Amino acid sequence: MATIQLEHGVYSVGAKDWQRRLFDGLIPLPQGTSYNAYLVQGNRDAALIDTVNPGFEDELLANLATLGVSPRYIVMNHAEPDHAGSIPRMLQEFPEARLVLTGKGADMAAAMHELPSERVDTVSTGDTLELGGKTLRFLEAPFVHWPETMLTYLEEDKILFPCDFLGAHTAAGIYADELDDWESAAKRYFGEIMMPLRKAGQRALQTVEDLEPTLIAPSHGPVHRDPERVLSLYRRWTAGETEAKVTICYVSMWGATDKLVRTLADALIEQGVHVRLFPLPETDLGELAKELVDSRAIVLGAPTVLGGLHPAAAYAALLVRALKPPAERAALLSSYGWGGGAARQAKELLEGTKMELAGAVEVHGTPRPAQYTQVRELATSLTRGWQ
Ligand code: FEO
Repeated sequence: MATIQLEHGVYSVGAKDWQRRLFDGLIPLPQGTSYNAYLVQGNRDAALIDTVNPGFEDELLANLATLGVSPRYIVMNHAEPDHAGSIPRMLQEFPEARLVLTGKGADMAAAMHELPSERVDTVSTGDTLELGGKTLRFLEAPFVHWPETMLTYLEEDKILFPCDFLGAHTAAGIYADELDDWESAAKRYFGEIMMPLRKAGQRALQTVEDLEPTLIAPSHGPVHRDPERVLSLYRRWTAGETEAKVTICYVSMWGATDKLVRTLADALIEQGVHVRLFPLPETDLGELAKELVDSRAIVLGAPTVLGGLHPAAAYAALLVRALKPPAERAALLSSYGWGGGAARQAKELLEGTKMELAGAVEVHGTPRPAQYTQVRELATSLTRGWQ
């Protein structure tokens, strides 16, 4: 990614990773991602805000070279390697540079990276760094999404650098308002990364709104020239606002669970409820995470395999537990040939969530008329009180 000037003395100097297809060994990246780093050039000093994923150091250094700048400070908003993994190399390349991070950041960085402790300056919420006509203010934002996360704010230009917060995993574009599919990418990213920590997200959102930034430059994805657009979405998402929508994730071996799922989907659609179906073996988990952001109910459909839940469904149930979606209800659809167990195991997995179990239908072999009736009744109990 070439150097991009965002404002006088403010540049995007990071890298795009079009090839990356998986994050954390978990999250699919259909459009790759970007590792955004920013350079703020004052009259006296320059500060580099975050770095890039290891492997992209040369690109970052080339971008800095085009500006002819040696940063006096390297600000670490977050210790995760996609942003901080290149800090050791940057400290080698710029031997006069100081590393600026929070106390928690220092602890985390010491665990994650090889850093010279004598070059570290710790800051806390409200501390500022004067660069000469450009002032960086630091604001701790714990658990957005790691405990040490910090936001950095450029006061004179009202530019916020929120690291992962308000970002998106896409290598496309420069500004969010130029991308037709930005909102979808941002929602997917929220579901994958920020949804489990909505309360912390709400606190950070309030901090951001109080700052009234005119530009928001996150560490993944495009920059926001219209901050209200992303902030209004985050108000809804962090509040856990849901729609009359049911997300059904399922797997079927010989068609019985599939028949239950389709009967339930038809009954829900007849009620005017939006339904999203995810056949698990072919599902992009990022799309599932995106729909979980505002689904009011979640249904798991799975047969029994060797006395337990089909492994694809067990994986999905664990993912739902981990992502903590705001759905208020859950339901189970299950089938078995020679012995049950899937429904029991699914209930155990979902007990760790705040969702009320609206019901479960488990059939032996092929579903019969009475069981289809049970499924239609389940559709009613799943959506009780929604109209
Ligand atoms: Fe993009 Fe939490 O690192």
